[in-house]
Amino acid sequence: MMFTLDRPSQQSLLELKRILIVDDEEAIRRLLGYMLQAQGYETVLASDARDARAKLAEQPFALILCDVNMPGESGMDLVRDILQQYPHAAVIMVTGLDSSVLAHAALEIGVFGYIVKPFESNKVMIDVANALRRRKLELENRLHRENLEDVVKTRTLALQQALEWLERSEKELRLSREETIQRLAIAAEYRDGATAQHIQRMSHYCELLARKYGLPPERCDLIRTASPMHDIGKIGTPDHVLLKPGKFTPEEFDVISQHAEIGYRILSGSDAEILKVAASIAWTHHERWDGNGYPRKLKGEEIPIEGRIASIADAFDALTTQRVYKPAFTLDYAVELMTKHRGTHFDPELLDIFFASRDEIQRIYDQYGDPLSDQIHADAA
Ligand SMILES: [Fe+2]
Repeated sequence: MMFTLDRPSQQSLLELKRILIVDDEEAIRRLLGYMLQAQGYETVLASDARDARAKLAEQPFALILCDVNMPGESGMDLVRDILQQYPHAAVIMVTGLDSSVLAHAALEIGVFGYIVKPFESNKVMIDVANALRRRKLELENRLHRENLEDVVKTRTLALQQALEWLERSEKELRLSREETIQRLAIAAEYRDGATAQHIQRMSHYCELLARKYGLPPERCDLIRTASPMHDIGKIGTPDHVLLKPGKFTPEEFDVISQHAEIGYRILSGSDAEILKVAASIAWTHHERWDGNGYPRKLKGEEIPIEGRIASIADAFDALTTQRVYKPAFTLDYAVELMTKHRGTHFDPELLDIFFASRDEIQRIYDQYGDPLSDQIHADAA
């Protein structure tokens, strides 16, 4: 039987004073027994290795005094096994042979002392006391180390759990924020028949373009999340203008143009990065590269990059889906139409980058398909 070192038994092992005396000479083991009992130790006697093993299996010992030369199994082999099986126990070898080779071998395998017969009582007492003191220090040290390891393990686990919880919370918060934005954007666009799919496609085209242009990943993510709010200002556009199927009069165009300014006013003034980007997109997504856009007639790189990106993504999606005033065009036809406005309406570099990613555009288009437009495409085919 092996005495495992769980926490309570380790503490009791520290206090242990029981000594096993293994010697084939009865007189010697009795003498050692008396001497040690007189000093307050509890002793158990064993006459050979086999007897010793049986006693060791019954209860734990703090120290084993072991004779080297015994009939049957040698003391050295027994000690080697004891040190392996009972690492909490100290061992002192007792021998009639004063040999430096034997003493060295005993030290090598980890015994704490080496007593040569005939021995003096005081020498035995000092060796036993020293061995027990060293054993106690080593056990305390091990206990302390294991305690520390446990504390580190427990705290590491707690930290991991806290981080996982934080990650989950952040993810939930991010998803719910994105969903809220999308739903608000859908609510704003609902009146003129724009769909949830339009919001999703447009925001993914924006993200694709931002990424291909080389903006940092966090910025691309912000643009994707903020872009659904680009037309939020349409909340302030009257129905008779917003839902008009034909061409706008100049007055009506002025009214519809105000949605960029209204959107900016709704979204600006926040410290949140996402709202800053959303406000910028709402304000600038109808500006044109040649300065003929609205509301401020910004030109070229005066238009913030997110506005130039949203302008391309919004126009492309408007062309490829059905609106009250037009049918859905094919992707090829949309590319052809927009290319005619390269460098006038659209940032030429960005437009080239966008159309160089036809496969990814197609994937977004297919993934967030518009049932009505799909039907129209199918009918046309
Ligand atoms: Fe718009």
